[in-house]
Amino acid sequence: MSQSTSFSSDHIPDISDFSPERWTIKFVNEGAANLVFEVRLPPSPPSTTGSRSNGSNDIFQGNLLRVPKAGAKTFPYPELQQYWESTITPLFPPENLAQHQLVKLGHSPSKVVALLNDILIREESGRRKDFRGTRVLPDAQYGMLIEDMRSQNPSDLFVEFKPKWLSPSPSQHTRCRNCAREAYRDHLDPSHHKAHRLGILCPLDFIACRDSLESLDNVLKHILPASSSPSQRTRLIHWLKTNTLLPALQKVQSEHDPSLGVNLELAMTLRDCSLFLRISSPEEGPGKVRVDAKLADLDKKNAAKKKHHWEWLERNLVEGGFYGGKETPREKTYCLLERSKRN
Ligand SMILES: Nc1ncnc2c1ncn2[C@@H]1O[C@H](COP(=O)(O)OP(=O)(O)OP(=O)(O)O)[C@@H](O)[C@H]1O
Ligand SMILES: [Mg+2]
Ligand SMILES: [Zn+2]
Repeated sequence: MSQSTSFSSDHIPDISDFSPERWTIKFVNEGAANLVFEVRLPPSPPSTTGSRSNGSNDIFQGNLLRVPKAGAKTFPYPELQQYWESTITPLFPPENLAQHQLVKLGHSPSKVVALLNDILIREESGRRKDFRGTRVLPDAQYGMLIEDMRSQNPSDLFVEFKPKWLSPSPSQHTRCRNCAREAYRDHLDPSHHKAHRLGILCPLDFIACRDSLESLDNVLKHILPASSSPSQRTRLIHWLKTNTLLPALQKVQSEHDPSLGVNLELAMTLRDCSLFLRISSPEEGPGKVRVDAKLADLDKKNAAKKKHHWEWLERNLVEGGFYGGKETPREKTYCLLERSKRN
C-alpha cells in the first residue's frame, strides 16, 4: 500500500475461522496471476432452537475465492481492492462490475493455502500446460470473494472474453492496436498463428457488430460456446446488438488512452479486463430473459514496471510498420480497419 493510504484490516473476515478442514473445494480456473476456487461449507447441523438455518450466513454463497499465485509480481490484494474501490467503481454502474471483497486467509502458514495447494496438485493434469506446477503465493495473507458469474442452471449461457482495445487511436489507419500487436507476434513467432485456429478477433468488431453482420459473425465465431443452443445464440446476439456496457467501456478507454500519457496504469487496466456474461434460461417465457454482464479482473497494473516494455513495444509496432500493414513479409490479420479500407 502507498504510505498515504491508511489500511485497517479489522473489519475483514478471516475465512480460516470457518473450519477449512471441512470444506469441499473445487478448482475453477486460473490466469497468469490468480487462482480461482469454489468453496462449499458442509451443511449446517439442525439448529437446537428448532429453526432451520437457511445458509444466509454462508460467506461463500454466490461467491468464488480468488487468491494470488506464487511468483506473479502483482500488487498485494489490499492494494488491488483499494484501487478498485477508489478508481474503478466510479467509472461503471455497480451492476456492471463483478463485486468483490477482501478476506483473510489466516495466520501463516495458512491452513487455507495448504488446502488450496492440495487441490491444485490433485487437478494438475486438467490445468493449462504452462500453468502446471504453480501454487498459491505461500505467504498470501488475503484472498478475494468475488461474485460467481458462472451458470446458475444448465440452460444458462456463460460467456467470458477480454474486450481489449475497443477503439483505434487516431494514428491507426490499417490496423488497430490489438491487431498490430498480433501481427507483430506472428512476425516474431510463426507458430503463434497456428495457436489461433480461428484467427484473431479484431476487438473493434465488438462495437461494430451492432450494425454489421460480418462483425457479428466474427464475434460469435469467437465467443459463442460450441455447446450453446439456438435460443442461447439468439439471446447472445440480442445482447451484442443492444448492450450499453461495451460502449461504456469503449468511452472510458478513449478517455484514458495510453497515448495521452496521463494515467497509464488505468489505461492498461481498462484494456486487460474480462467481461463475464450470464444469460439466464428463457423457461419463464421469452420476456423473462435475464442478462448479467459484468467486468472483472480490473486489477491495478504496475505501470512503473511496465512502462519501459510498453514504450519499447509501441516503438517496434510503429517502426516495424505493423500499424500500417507494411511489415515484410506481410502478416495476415483481419482487422476491421483493414477490411473497411478494402471495401
Ligand atoms: N467472478 C467469476 N465468475 C466466474 N468465473 C470466474 C470469476 N472470476 C474468475 N473466474 C475464472 O477464473 C479465471 C481466472 O481469473 P482471473 O481473470 O481473476 O485471473 P488472472 O490471473 O487475473 O487472469 P489474466 O491472466 O487474464 O489477467 C477467469 O478467466 C475465469 O474463467
Ligand atoms: Mg488479471
Ligand atoms: Zn483490429
